[in-house]
Amino acid sequence: MHPGVPMVTVLALMALMMPLFSGAVDIRQLRQLAARHNVTCVLVFGDSSVDPGNNNRLPTTMKGNFPPYGKDFFDRHPTGRFSNGRLATDFIAEALGYTKIIPAFLDPNLKPADLLHGVSFASAASGYDDLTANLSQVLPVSKQIEYLKHYKLHLSRLVGGNKAQNIVKNAIFCFEYGHQ
Ligand SMILES: *[C@@H]1O[C@H](CO)[C@@H](O)[C@H](O)[C@H]1NC(C)=O
Ligand SMILES: *[C@@H]1O[C@H](CO)[C@@H](O)[C@H](O)[C@H]1NC(C)=O
Repeated sequence: MHPGVPMVTVLALMALMMPLFSGAVDIRQLRQLAARHNVTCVLVFGDSSVDPGNNNRLPTTMKGNFPPYGKDFFDRHPTGRFSNGRLATDFIAEALGYTKIIPAFLDPNLKPADLLHGVSFASAASGYDDLTANLSQVLPVSKQIEYLKHYKLHLSRLVGGNKAQNIVKNAIFCFEYGHQ
């Protein structure tokens, strides 16, 4: 993995995002910083804390696509997020001005334009080791990274190889394993 955005930038962005939930974040400052560092999109890896519905497409019982999940989501729609509303990564994408939600890479309704703003490869009940994920038939980190390669291919077809490379190189990579 080669996050092109320097660690310092990521840390600075994270620091600016901290007060996001208290509503105290300076969105303008955050966006200026992201623009200055050519940040392109958000790519997410992890577990249920950031899975927007990849597990819906997997033969696992670890799903969050039924009520009361999503009761505070747009249209009260259960999406697969293990949350009543949006996930932290959705708010990050919104703060950066990209999109209101980061969709699941495995979502069959994923639109080409969604690839430009970022997607999530996260899978609820996943862990760093393949065994944890295997037990519940979800995506281990290794598989999530394999899907990143698929993502790059789709993106290349959409915008061309050079632009795709630039987008991935300047993406913010979020790794979130919160529920282990
Ligand atoms: C952002 O992109 C511009 C134009 O390509 C480049 O000159 C600049 O060095 C880049 N900034 C960073 C921090 O990579
Ligand atoms: C999970 O374990 C089974 C049994 O050991 C194996 O056949 C299968 O390939 C593994 N699946 C993954 C996704 O690693």
